[in-house]
Amino acid sequence: MTFSVLETALSALRSGNHDKAEMLCRSVVEGNSGNDLVTVNALCLLGATLLYKKEIAEGKKYFDAALSHPAAVANEEIRKAVLTRLHSCQDVYRFAAQPETQNKTVDDNLLAVMRATTDMRTSGYAHHADSRRFSWEWKEINYNRISILGLLTSKRSDAAYLEIGCASNVVFDSIPLANKVGVDPAAGGTLRMTSDDFFRINTSFFDVIFIDGLHTYEQVRKDIINALRILKPNGWIAIHDVLPRDWIEQHVPCVSGGVWTGNVWKVAFELVKTAGIDFKIITIDHGVGVFRVTGENVTLHDMTAELHDKEFAYLYENISLLPLIEWSDAQQWLRG
Ligand SMILES: C[S@@+](CC[C@H](N)C(=O)[O-])C[C@H]1O[C@@H](n2cnc3c(N)ncnc32)[C@H](O)[C@@H]1O
Repeated sequence: MTFSVLETALSALRSGNHDKAEMLCRSVVEGNSGNDLVTVNALCLLGATLLYKKEIAEGKKYFDAALSHPAAVANEEIRKAVLTRLHSCQDVYRFAAQPETQNKTVDDNLLAVMRATTDMRTSGYAHHADSRRFSWEWKEINYNRISILGLLTSKRSDAAYLEIGCASNVVFDSIPLANKVGVDPAAGGTLRMTSDDFFRINTSFFDVIFIDGLHTYEQVRKDIINALRILKPNGWIAIHDVLPRDWIEQHVPCVSGGVWTGNVWKVAFELVKTAGIDFKIITIDHGVGVFRVTGENVTLHDMTAELHDKEFAYLYENISLLPLIEWSDAQQWLRG
């Protein structure tokens, strides 16, 4: 019974109804279910809901309560599960913690907890560690994904733009088009849902599609295949976070307390081999993969069997196969 209340609370949180999620979680936390797992889950979900509501100190309080619950203290697996959940809130947390947002509600203790969970999770995956690192210094290049999308979306004032994964709308709000749709299950954009759900119900076509949702190879593959079906003739697709610099930035599940590109990079090896597209990776802002369709009935080349267990080493050793291009050389192409 109480597990189903938590499931309803989770759906409410995912659909952006934070107040309903909070009310349901509180009813479980305060109702004393007698089941330790239910209580720990409810504390985590309540903590997450409050973080989403930007009630940082309160959110942390419930995660602390989950971590110090006797079940989490006695059982390492439960403790790890709590840390994983706290970690999965890191996008929300990072948004609140960005110095430029001048958000005074950020709690230093929470920052410490986040750092500790990062260290802990990284060491848990140390067997994937790779000391090699690419030397791109993204912050030293004064162009970013918005530079690319700005060029692509300013060709025609009646163009239609779709963004998958909008977060705080940094990109979405900068697109100067009337016809734009943003899809995100948690924050920003215009539609509160996952990309899979959106593609299931959507009937519109778009000129420019920016894919920046869930940063896993499997999801990005799906997003690209679905996006290809609704791309207008002469349209462009851009994919963010194609170039992780080290194993931590790309590790799935996320173990990074900072930049997390996920393993989006895998799809770049498929796009290179896909017939009927013109694909490049622009070396700015964590790597932005961009392509336009030049042929008919384009099908994403399938390397899932080969790539599924590949790690950072594969990217590092095969980077020369990818069509990297600098911003200065990309502009003419993007304007075309
Ligand atoms: C990196 S942020 C997007 C940043 C934004 N595009 C920008 O450039 O400023 C990733 C976003 O993807 C969203 N997301 C996660 N899973 C998703 C999914 N299955 N479908 C769509 N969006 C998803 C997250 O909620 C998060 O807000």
